[in-house]
Formats: sequence, C-alpha cells, structure tokens
Amino acid sequence: MNYEEVSIPTICHESGMLSVIESGIDLPFEFRRVYFLHSLAEGAIRGGHAHRALHQLLFVPSGSLDLSLNDGNTSITLTMKDPTKGIWLKPPIWRDIDKCSKDATLIVLASDHYDESDYIRNFDDFKQYCESK
Ligand code: TYD
Repeated sequence: MNYEEVSIPTICHESGMLSVIESGIDLPFEFRRVYFLHSLAEGAIRGGHAHRALHQLLFVPSGSLDLSLNDGNTSITLTMKDPTKGIWLKPPIWRDIDKCSKDATLIVLASDHYDESDYIRNFDDFKQYCESK
C-alpha cells in the first residue's frame, strides 16, 4: 500500500504540546503547498480522488476522521485522531475521507502547487491507471 505512518516530532510541556515538521528534514519530500480542511459539515465526505505524482502528508491536529485508502487492489481504513501521527500518501493511492468529528481539522502538506491535471477523480480511471503502471 502506498502510504506510511510518520511520527511528527513533538515537544511536550506541561502547558501543552508543540509539534513541528521541517520540509525536507522530517519528511522525505519538500512541501510547496499547505492546505487544510476545517469547519466541516456534519457527515461531510471529502477526497474521492488520487494523484498521479503528488506526495502528501496528512495530519489531524484536532478532532478525528476516517481516511480510507485503496491502491487498486486492497483497501484499508485508518481513523486519524493523534495530532503527532501523519500519513504520508505516495502516488498513486485513492483516498476517501468521512466520519469527520465536528471539531476535525485536516492539514495537508503537498509536494507541489495545485494542478488539477494531476488528479484522477474517477475510481475506474484510477484502477486502469494502476493496471497500466
Ligand atoms: P479537492 O482536492 O477535491 O478537495 P477534497 O479532497 O478535500 O475533497 O478540492 C476541492 C476543490 O478545491 C476543487 O475545486 C479544487 C480546489 N482546490 C484548489 O483550488 N486548490 C487546492 O490547493 C486544493 C487542494 C483544492
């Protein structure tokens, strides 16, 4: 499966925790874009796509959500709720996001700028793409 769990270096203090990710140091790729999902509606379903070349690190600093992954053959659902654990998605991998708690925030560090042509938004196209690789 084209994903890996990454521990986010965290400095613990009695007043709170500080987690930090340095591009190219704590992650095996340099990130050029940060985006985040927040203020999610109850029952929100996100994702529903794969990328051709983009690497991403996903982490959930607050709340929880389910991240379902599919590599064209097998699938797995991960419940994300630990702010110190990220999921590194390596292309190609299909992702669906649901079961978001009301306070869920998802931050994504992406290896490149936004490019719609890097998306595969149809699951059958994704399976064909995987088979052709
Ligand atoms: P999408 O990546 O499909 O979001 P999600 O996986 O969270 O459901 O993007 C949703 C919309 O936002 C889509 O119209 C493209 C746009 N978008 C940008 O313009 N820039 C970005 O960096 C991202 C991630 C999305």
